Amino acid sequence: MEKRTAHKSKISYEDTWDDALKIMEKDMSNKKRDLAAILDNLLRQKVHERFEKRFSRDLHKKIGITIKRDLPPEKRLVVQNGLYSIVPFDTILDYNLIDILATHIQQKENQIDYVVELGSGIGINLFLIAYKLDPDLRKRIRYFSCEVTDSGRTACEKLIRFSGELKMSAEHFDYYHPDFSFLEPQKNILFFTAHSIEQIPKIDKALFEAMIGVSNQCNCYHAEPVGWQYDENVTNQRARLKPNHWKRNRSKVRRKIEKIDRWLFSRYGVGIVDKSHRFGINVEKTDIGKPGKVSINAALHSFAKDYNTNLVSTLKKMENDSLISIDTEMVNLYGKNPFNPTSIISWHKIVE
Ligand SMILES: C[S@@+](CC[C@H](N)C(=O)[O-])C[C@H]1O[C@@H](n2cnc3c(N)ncnc32)[C@H](O)[C@@H]1O
Repeated sequence: MEKRTAHKSKISYEDTWDDALKIMEKDMSNKKRDLAAILDNLLRQKVHERFEKRFSRDLHKKIGITIKRDLPPEKRLVVQNGLYSIVPFDTILDYNLIDILATHIQQKENQIDYVVELGSGIGINLFLIAYKLDPDLRKRIRYFSCEVTDSGRTACEKLIRFSGELKMSAEHFDYYHPDFSFLEPQKNILFFTAHSIEQIPKIDKALFEAMIGVSNQCNCYHAEPVGWQYDENVTNQRARLKPNHWKRNRSKVRRKIEKIDRWLFSRYGVGIVDKSHRFGINVEKTDIGKPGKVSINAALHSFAKDYNTNLVSTLKKMENDSLISIDTEMVNLYGKNPFNPTSIISWHKIVE
């Protein structure tokens, strides 16, 4: 289990967004391409990168998908509507959230002043949402891409200049010190988060209080891997796990074989050990089309990464205190990483 600290998360994402900018700059120098196409290309490259990992390749072999060396397979394992599913390799699931938010904005057309993403990276979701809207609406709204890394904000600013037409700004934002002084108070705001609260093992309710405090009408969508938090059995099992539980009880011989395996793989790209059980995760061919193991595997993944444990309980508590009302809860709706599936929870502020 890697203990997640604010500093560790920030450092790892500084590199991620620097690398993303390099990929996009290549595309941006080709003046024919529009921003939505450049971002789509980035999302596709991320799917390919996932497949370069040993774990992913071994897992797909295990569930009967043919893997050729150095080539992506034709299909891949994801989560869709709470089930493990097989989809064509190039399926981009990120558009689930983009479509939900663009539809919400179109429906509330004249009631939204600001769209604010927290932990936004380079603002990819905000740009894709903006380009789904009717041009007049797109230009009327102000967008705020709120991110803790310098590289994320720098890349976002470059994309804003490239787009040339959006009223968007990249703002410094840290979940550990939520400060919305960059927002004009009492506006109607749509906030959202996408796999960024996951980075905060325990989110403080001060975040939600600050969102409610700064806004007039306030709606919020969370697209976060917290579906397992709805299952009491799974939550209890996760609470009993020991650090590095998946590495325990390995015999000396097994550890030696694994060492040889790592050497063989780094040298020749072939392995002798099945690595599909990372973090204790287990999926068989017979699990496809079924919901049974989705939440327990997600909880094991979350434990290993020290991801968020309290988003659902914090929102429920705020609802009990009549501060917010929860509107939708779509558990394990989609998962481009099948072991870190996204649930969508939306709420609005209760105005007295
Ligand atoms: C998995 S990425 C998601 C980025 C973006 N939401 C998206 O969907 O493309 C997680 C993001 O959370 C950000 N993050 C991590 N810790 C944070 C913190 N303390 N405050 C704000 N953002 C944070 C990271 O820098 C990174 O951009």
